[in-house]
Amino acid sequence: MQEIIRQLDAKRAAARLGGGEKRIDLQHAKGKLTSRERIELLLDADSFEEWDMFVEHRCVEFGMEEQKIPGDGVVTGYGTICGRLVFVFSQDFTVFGGSLSAAHAEKICKVMDHAIKVGAPVIGINDSGGARIQEGVEALAGYADVFQRNVMASGVVPQISMIMGPCAGGAVYSPAMTDFIFMVKKTSYMFVTGPDVVKTVTHEEVTAEELGGAESHTSRSGVADLAFENDVESLLMLRRFFNFLPPNNKEKPPVWPCNDPAERIEESLDTLVPLDRNKPYDMKELITKVVDENDFFELQPNYAGNIIIGFARMQGSTVGIVANQPMVLAGCLDIASSRKAGRFVRFCDAFNIPIITFVDVPGFLPGTSQEYGGIIKHGAKLLYAFAEATVPKITLITRKAYGGAYDVMSSKHLRGDVNFAWPTAEIAVMGPKGAVEIIFRKDIGDEEKIKARTEEYGARFANPFVAGKMGFIDDVIMPHNTRTRICRSLAMLRDKDLSNPWRKHGNIPL
Ligand code: HXC
Repeated sequence: MQEIIRQLDAKRAAARLGGGEKRIDLQHAKGKLTSRERIELLLDADSFEEWDMFVEHRCVEFGMEEQKIPGDGVVTGYGTICGRLVFVFSQDFTVFGGSLSAAHAEKICKVMDHAIKVGAPVIGINDSGGARIQEGVEALAGYADVFQRNVMASGVVPQISMIMGPCAGGAVYSPAMTDFIFMVKKTSYMFVTGPDVVKTVTHEEVTAEELGGAESHTSRSGVADLAFENDVESLLMLRRFFNFLPPNNKEKPPVWPCNDPAERIEESLDTLVPLDRNKPYDMKELITKVVDENDFFELQPNYAGNIIIGFARMQGSTVGIVANQPMVLAGCLDIASSRKAGRFVRFCDAFNIPIITFVDVPGFLPGTSQEYGGIIKHGAKLLYAFAEATVPKITLITRKAYGGAYDVMSSKHLRGDVNFAWPTAEIAVMGPKGAVEIIFRKDIGDEEKIKARTEEYGARFANPFVAGKMGFIDDVIMPHNTRTRICRSLAMLRDKDLSNPWRKHGNIPL
């Protein structure tokens, strides 16, 4: 028996060594942790239950039958983060460059199948050279098997991708179908075709970092949600992020202890909105002052900054925040911001996370680039997402809510449950100046008249009381009471029960 145990120990030790000391040193030299070190940092101490440590590939081409490494380039299993169950796979770049073989794919599929069965999130740590070249179509089939599971898990359990090395070619489509993508600066990249192919086809010279590095995907493409400095920071932030999420679509998000009173008064909010309606202010100040312990986990801060999205807590429970940002493009809606917020709203709705929407929106961004880029279809994504959502929806208009954008931003008409306005709110078809220039066009040139008309229009429509009279605004609230009013509304909505008519699926304007 002792001998059998010794043999098992030796087998485990061999598997743990992955591609060997030399390749581990190379990995460290690049500033990267190994697949196991990453799991250790991500999960609670001693919580990892590893599966399929002894799985080997079945390839016999190109001398591969002589090169077998137990585990075959991916470490899989489950564990806990702050005591909450999570399934993980972590690709091991030291084994055939973390490339995906049929066996490697089967391991990933196994944890995904279990995650769906028991209702727990999946975190995938990607560090791979793509399809195992020696295996050919078997590896491609393996990718498709993973893709299919990504789709089956979508909206059932949260899926998070952490890109910590190469992720190229068709391999990018698995992370693309997960709910959130995080990247590590300088050591990770994602692209469909690499710099060499780009050069051949389009004659563009671009580095891997420029083409698909963390900076590019968090500021230009919007593919990734956040970029972190290094592996350690990434994994610690991922633990923090995970704590906002519910385990699956049937359960509510976790409730954490909260020492921040619901009745906290925030006097400074009374002066947040400047008297001059064209002067910007920082919407993030409102968000951080209203949420529990000023803790706001923002996503995509460097992409489409005219809209803010992220998670926070109110009385210990997760909420999704969507807010126009007057500091960027005056907070107007455009293609990028509509797509960014639309997808976020859908995540919140799929996973029972109430949505709080802070509105200060002058309308949709005009221009040919927006129209040719399809703002009609993209703007409709956000509209569709808000209208479809059945989770508790609380909206606060702080200043402008003009035109179609008023409707879109979780208005009463899209089944907003509680719609508040600050006294500074202006709810109208457009701003007073624009309105007067259209309906009193004949007076243009007569400064006095235009000024008087503008003031008249402002007094008549640029306030929250016209909408209030019609019940489109439930109450005009004191800014300093915002937290209290939202907390009470959330408590009232805790057992909200609303469903949409049966259908196979809707047809969101993709
Ligand atoms: C088999 C691979 C591999 C792969 C890397 N390796 N990629 N083995 N299949 N796809 C092996 C290398 O042979 C090497 O083995 C080890 O991993 C480390 O690779 P290096 O090249 O030494 O590392 P580095 O210089 O860091 O370069 C990393 C890399 C490069 C940029 C990822 O390896 C590379 O370009 N690989 C090929 C990428 C690729 O074209 N993949 C196919 C994409 S198409 P040794 O034994 O020397 O340590 C695809 C289709 C998916 O994935 C379709 C889904 C639908």
